[in-house]
Amino acid sequence: MPVAVILLAAGQGTRMSSELPKVLHPLAGVPLLAHALATARAVEPERTVVVTGHGAEAVAAAARALEEEVRIVRQQQQLGTGHAVLQAAPALEGFEGDAIVLYGDTPFVRGETLQAMLDARAAGAAVVVLGFEAKDPGGYGRLVLDAGGQPAAIVEAKDADAATRAVTLCNSGLLAADARILLDLLGAVGNANAKGEYYLTDVVALARARGLSTAVITCPEAETLGVNSRADLAAAEAGFQARARAEAMANGATLTDPASVFFALDTVIGRDVVIGPNVFFGPEVTVESGATIHAFCHLEGCHVSRGAKVGPFARLRPGAEIAEDVHIGNFVEIKNAIVEEGAKANHLSYIGDARVGAGANIGAGTITCNYDGVFKHRTEIGARAFIGSNAALVAPVTVGDGALVAAGSVITEDVPAGALAVARGRQVVKPGLGARIIERLRALKSGKASA
Ligand code: UD1
Ligand code: CA
Repeated sequence: MPVAVILLAAGQGTRMSSELPKVLHPLAGVPLLAHALATARAVEPERTVVVTGHGAEAVAAAARALEEEVRIVRQQQQLGTGHAVLQAAPALEGFEGDAIVLYGDTPFVRGETLQAMLDARAAGAAVVVLGFEAKDPGGYGRLVLDAGGQPAAIVEAKDADAATRAVTLCNSGLLAADARILLDLLGAVGNANAKGEYYLTDVVALARARGLSTAVITCPEAETLGVNSRADLAAAEAGFQARARAEAMANGATLTDPASVFFALDTVIGRDVVIGPNVFFGPEVTVESGATIHAFCHLEGCHVSRGAKVGPFARLRPGAEIAEDVHIGNFVEIKNAIVEEGAKANHLSYIGDARVGAGANIGAGTITCNYDGVFKHRTEIGARAFIGSNAALVAPVTVGDGALVAAGSVITEDVPAGALAVARGRQVVKPGLGARIIERLRALKSGKASA
């Protein structure tokens, strides 16, 4: 059965107290919205519809960047979850199959859980809801079950009597139904309730009134955690990181101090990778088997190959491609640069918009001067080249294979393969003059001589 995902992302997120739409706040290095879209992908939807409202343009742009074929609809006024889902109707034109409603602010729902909901649909339930046992049911909608254990209604906390509020089985908000039946039921939902909103949840009782069957799938409460405030966001981050650390270790990585290592949603860590304390992974990082990331490194958008050693205190920025057995040492920054097999840059360097050939040695303090204030330029460093300490390589410039650049050089012209380039002031030595100057200065200080 084809699946359409309807992702609700129109709410203001008032309690975030932010200019940024709630679903664009980052969690594990990517917007909340990216987590929900990743969950959606697990059921291979034929259509994905994002319902935007507050910050619609920014949310739509983010959704398009994250999901090529996404359909965007706009809910002009936030009149409730049922009203929000109805806005997806034009985007579901001609679609036949199951619709599944997700929230953009609920990042941890697993693909398997969506699949269980779809399986319950396939087994014959017209409307399937996702419930959970809440520790503190508070403001959640309550799932009211019939004698057969199937949902008869969902009652919002604000509309519930004391007996219903005592129910601990709560509504996560996720719901699956045949798309046409869902839209049809929603057409019959009114707003005569405590909040004056069109509730998606009302479709359960409406379905039952029409003799349609309902079912509930349950999941752990942690899975349905929704982000409503900065405190929730921090709690969600902590939950994500705890799971990511455990997963990295279960997959064979050593984390010296797991609590101080931070992963992104898409971080890939191979077996026998060793990660020291205080390491931060931004989005799009892959570290292959047997690589070591020493303490205090910051990595994003980069690839570290087998056996490479990075840090301590290294920064790998987007486009850093670290080949096998490369050493990147302390206070070295690499951006948009390929460092080929076995090359070394061990101390205090900036390598940007460059290629460092296999086995090359980059001396302490070497800088690729890649930016002229307007344009960026490339530096090519050949295989086995040796760049002496504190060299400035003014791009665009090429240093050939096996060439030697003397320490302290400012290299502005290409250096042919195998050549030696020295580009610095010549040293002048005056015998005895140093000692005479020092003597004179001491005499001045003690008043035995006058200036
Ligand atoms: C909703 C459910 C409640 C459930 C709870 C779980 C309803 C009526 N209630 O309540 O049963 O326990 O979620 O967290 O569905 N949204 C829109 N447009 C709107 C209103 C909401 O896009 O007009 C989006 C929000 O951005 C949010 C989601 O829908 O992502 C849920 O809306 P929210 O107002 O937070 O619903 P709750 O009152 O929490
Ligand atoms: Ca909510």
